[in-house]
Amino acid sequence: MKISCKYILFSTLLLAGLTQAQGDATTVRNLMKSVVIPQSDIVFAVGKKAPANDREWSQIAQSAAKLTEAAKALSARAPASNAESWRKASQAMADAAVRVGAGAKSKNADAVLDAGDLLYESCEGCHRQHLRK
Ligand code: HEC
Repeated sequence: MKISCKYILFSTLLLAGLTQAQGDATTVRNLMKSVVIPQSDIVFAVGKKAPANDREWSQIAQSAAKLTEAAKALSARAPASNAESWRKASQAMADAAVRVGAGAKSKNADAVLDAGDLLYESCEGCHRQHLRK
């Protein structure tokens, strides 16, 4: 009886561990699709057309804030291997997003574009090292 209880406990822990690992991969993908891709598209679109009114500027600022949060969430999900480079890439994304937000708050399209370049580089920086091909 004792043995089977231990066994059940062990397999439950094992299962929880597996679900956790899968959950992280799913979370990164979901983060990309639900937040990172749509919100960064809004920021990158400033290259085609500068925001024309307060509402559009504040939308950029809101996207920047969501990207900053997403970068923090990414940082917390560093894979076991190469975690250091993952955290650096997440930090670069957070820094760039904060700069986008500052540019949007001062309604400076050039500043948003410069920060947008940094943001793009941060995406590429992580994908170069962590995207399975
Ligand atoms: C810290 C690492 C990291 C950063 C930063 C990052 N990504 Fe990703 N991204 C990933 C990983 C890992 C995947 C693969 C997820 C999967 O499918 O398992 C991915 C997948 C994607 C995909 C493919 C999604 C699909 O349909 O399969 C796109 C597009 C994408 N990212 C866009 C971006 C953009 C835009 C940024 C920057 C604003 C960014 N990512 C920043 C790690 C990152």
